[in-house]
Formats: sequence, C-alpha cells, structure tokens
Amino acid sequence: MALLAVLVVPDERLKQVSQPIEYFDSSLRDFIQDLEQTMRAGPGGVGIAAAQVARFERIVIVDVSSKPNIKHHGRLVLINPEITQWHGMVQGREGCMSVPDYTGNVIRAQSIQLSAYDEYGQKQSYHCEGYEARAIQHEVDHLNGMLFLDRVVSRRTDLFRRKNYR
Ligand code: NI
Repeated sequence: MALLAVLVVPDERLKQVSQPIEYFDSSLRDFIQDLEQTMRAGPGGVGIAAAQVARFERIVIVDVSSKPNIKHHGRLVLINPEITQWHGMVQGREGCMSVPDYTGNVIRAQSIQLSAYDEYGQKQSYHCEGYEARAIQHEVDHLNGMLFLDRVVSRRTDLFRRKNYR
C-alpha cells in the first residue's frame, strides 16, 4: 500500500470531471486500498475522492463511523455513485483535504438516496442522512470538479481560516 499525494487548491486539476469505472478488477481494488489509506492518514479523514489524488475516475470512499452518535453505514466504497433523491436542506461546516487552510458553511440535503457499485462491481443502494449524507454529497462534488468553496453560503461570512490542520 502507498500514501498518495493529495492535490490542493488552487490546482486546476481539481476542476476536472471524473469518468465512470468500467472494469472492477484487482488493480482497481489495489488503488482503493491506497486511496483509503490516504484518507485515513489525513486530518478529518472521513471521505476522499479519487480525483483528489489525480485519478479522474468516479470513485469515492466515505467513513464517518468515528463521529459519535450519528447514523452511518461504516466504510462505504462508492463507485459511479448516483444520488437520486434529495430531502431537506441543512447548513453545516465542511473541510477538505484539498482545501487545507479553510472550513466553510455549506447547505446540503439532510438526507439522500443513492446507488453505487461497490469495489466488486455489485450495485448497491443506500439511504443516508445527516453527516454521512453531507460527506457523500461533498465527495460526489469532487467527481464533478466542484469544491465546497464553490458552494459556500457567503465567501465573506461563511469561510473560516483554520489554525491547526495537517
Ligand atoms: Ni473534499
């Protein structure tokens, strides 16, 4: 396994749209292991998209199980994810390994329905809410070349400089 280099703003590659996965083979699973290790080594460490390590394929990993008292599915590997339903709107604070110096307030759906393939090519569907739903929406944005900075409520009042991150 290997830690992968994470792109950080203002790297233009973060705006690239990622392509769907077609082959679910062992090289994909090897990459997912490296991607997961990179996520867990980072601060926060609750989600990562392949685009953040300059592999522009529709793969995200989310695991919010370290947060207390929330509903979650544990470790989620989401390949070619499609969010099909959005319910409610809620504002919350987000950070990102690719935006090390800031956090920001972003409005997201409170709950979502999604389908995705797992790393073995099996189609799965999930209902997610709260912090897990927020993390998934954030990571799926990366696959479309978007950062939370693009959705922050107001750059003037809802962007906050971090003191200690990394
Ligand atoms: Ni991010």
